[in-house]
Amino acid sequence: MNDLDSKKLKTLYLEFFKEKNHKVIPSAPLVPQYDNTVLFTTAGMHPLIPYLMGQEHPAGRRLVNVQKCLRTDDIFEIGDDSHLTFFEMLGNWSLGDYFKNESIRWSFEFLTDKGWLAIDLDRLYATVFAGDEDAPRDEVSAKIWRDVGMPVERIFYLPKKDNWWGPVGDTGPCGPDTEIFYDTEKEACGPDCRPGCACGKYFEIWNNVFMEYNRTPDGKYEPLKQKNVDTGMGVERTVACLSGMKSVYETDTFKPLMTKILEITGTQLSVEVEDTGKERSRRIIADHVKAATFIMAERVSASNVGRGYILRRLLRRAVRHAKILGIEKEFLSELAKVVIETYKTDYPILEQNSQFIMSEAISEETRFRNTLNRGLGKFGRLSAEKGKIDGKDAFLLFQSFGFPIEITKELADEKGIQVDVKGFDEEFMKHQQLSRQGAEKMFEKKSR
Ligand code: ALA
Repeated sequence: MNDLDSKKLKTLYLEFFKEKNHKVIPSAPLVPQYDNTVLFTTAGMHPLIPYLMGQEHPAGRRLVNVQKCLRTDDIFEIGDDSHLTFFEMLGNWSLGDYFKNESIRWSFEFLTDKGWLAIDLDRLYATVFAGDEDAPRDEVSAKIWRDVGMPVERIFYLPKKDNWWGPVGDTGPCGPDTEIFYDTEKEACGPDCRPGCACGKYFEIWNNVFMEYNRTPDGKYEPLKQKNVDTGMGVERTVACLSGMKSVYETDTFKPLMTKILEITGTQLSVEVEDTGKERSRRIIADHVKAATFIMAERVSASNVGRGYILRRLLRRAVRHAKILGIEKEFLSELAKVVIETYKTDYPILEQNSQFIMSEAISEETRFRNTLNRGLGKFGRLSAEKGKIDGKDAFLLFQSFGFPIEITKELADEKGIQVDVKGFDEEFMKHQQLSRQGAEKMFEKKSR
């Protein structure tokens, strides 16, 4: 589609499901409200868990929304063409209402109908669950796909690692899924290339999960009270893919950020575009600052624990990549401003908390810039002397110079040397225990 941008995709999606009697619900916060087991909302279904388990939702049994999500498990993939820390996810849900038939037929209609996305059926593929000891082979979904017109050779049966989604954490609602892929028409990577292959020829645009199981603490899958549907479509990825863009960083919500970074570095894109290292740094900065701005909008401050530590790692890694680009002056708050401008209509919380965002960004950047050069010097000396970074040294870089482990790891990777991450974790734990003991001693003294 030529003129597809994120606003258009979101509007079309919500309109389509409104026509199918879904109620639009607002995006839940990134900081989960009723779940302390995870730090951030990672999928549209996450805030809906109680309702997937059977509680009645005030808006009914058919819901649709755009959910802001944050995932940090792929932090080293950030900077490639498709991974993002913060992203928006389109989702529609059936809470014990419709199931596989409507779900697959509506997805097919939205994707292929001329009035909606009008994707050529020749470019679409589907995968379904192959079955195992926990749940049967999903012949029902495969048949629905055939019935709507998907050629049988473009339907793949894949195992749990590909075609099962959930739970969030160790327990809760989950189930087999059917995933819809778009053929980018890139060269296949080999004779076994198929949807689900990591080479990027087939791009996953939609995941329809049939949440009919509850994973129990002992790892069993028991039927839920009701059969639900949970779907997810990543906005940035889908816009990039359907517009034929090379990466998510070319999409409308990244453009102003990428332009601003080029402006700050005084770089002409035509010259620098050849330099993939610098382009990767620009992408990491854009991704991390966007994610950090949304976190700060929920009044989280940088710290060494929990959410605050995720925030700290994102901001500091952005500063370290800014250094690679030669940005020596304070810049995070300028970029955060761009994020606020880009998203303030859809997420007014950004503007409401802009003062907080600015002051957090400035103070964290100032703090880190105070130690960054000395830390880089120390890293250089340690790596030259020892040819590797052991756990104690990695911890020293963290404690004395504020280097989160992934910065040390990234610096080491660039030099081709090893870091003992496990040793770092041990030091980290040891230190936390020591500080706890210290706090307990203090408490004892005070209470005496
Ligand atoms: N919860 C599913 C996902 O995130 C739809 O892919």
